[in-house]
Amino acid sequence: MSLTDEVRAAFANTPDPRTRELADAAVRHLHAFATEVGLTRAEWRAGIDFLTAIGHITTETRQEFILLSDTLGLSSLVETLIEPGGTEHTVLGPLYVPGSPVRELGDSTLVDEDAGERVEISGRVLGPDGPLRAELDVWQNASNRLYAVQDPAQSPENLRGRFVTGEDGRFAFRTIRPVPYPIPDDGPVGRMLAATARHPWRPAHIHFIVTAPGHRALTTHVFDAASEYLDSDAVFGERDSLVTSFEGGRATFDFRLEREVPGALHESR
Ligand code: BEZ
Ligand code: FE
Repeated sequence: MSLTDEVRAAFANTPDPRTRELADAAVRHLHAFATEVGLTRAEWRAGIDFLTAIGHITTETRQEFILLSDTLGLSSLVETLIEPGGTEHTVLGPLYVPGSPVRELGDSTLVDEDAGERVEISGRVLGPDGPLRAELDVWQNASNRLYAVQDPAQSPENLRGRFVTGEDGRFAFRTIRPVPYPIPDDGPVGRMLAATARHPWRPAHIHFIVTAPGHRALTTHVFDAASEYLDSDAVFGERDSLVTSFEGGRATFDFRLEREVPGALHESR
């Protein structure tokens, strides 16, 4: 029996079938990777050190493991495995902070002074049968490129908010135009990007998590069509269907939610 098969056999009695499937595939692919590249002891050690450094820098507000998954395209791939239908999903990213303040429709998410260009974002949330009463959880960066969670100079609630649509599914809020920004690149993931001649930039976008009872939660972005880096997003999160114009102080976007299917493989976040 090969070493790989011996390890697979060690997992064969895993009681939960899905856990067994995941463990078996992980072992097969890890072993195939090491065999294919002829992984040396020094390279194995460098990999362990890299993951250890990622663990050490990770805190409540700095999630370097998600950043690694993002820069490897894994987070984006997982979003594409959700059954198609409705607005395309894209990465959550490591900068999401739950519990944003609930704001009134038409209000601004901007709490602090900011010289950024003012914009109004509006649109509708639609289900398979028409408009939905939904919640939109929104977050974005300031014109210094930083999200509030990264920047002690910003109020913690700056440029974040939750909005609840009316029965007509309509929403509108005021904010500033988001700007392109580099993902946090002062840690192990940044060293990986530098060593592989990759840049850390993301195109300008606003994040949304859109939820409505009985419907699959939608985690997505709306991108500014005029932004740099739409073709080379460092985390592979750009989707052409999510790009819209922010010209003239206005951006509109309609979100389409799919009905929740009980027991579906890819349940809501
Ligand atoms: C973000 O869009 O907030 C983000 C996504 C992936 C990595 C870093 C930041
Ligand atoms: Fe972002």
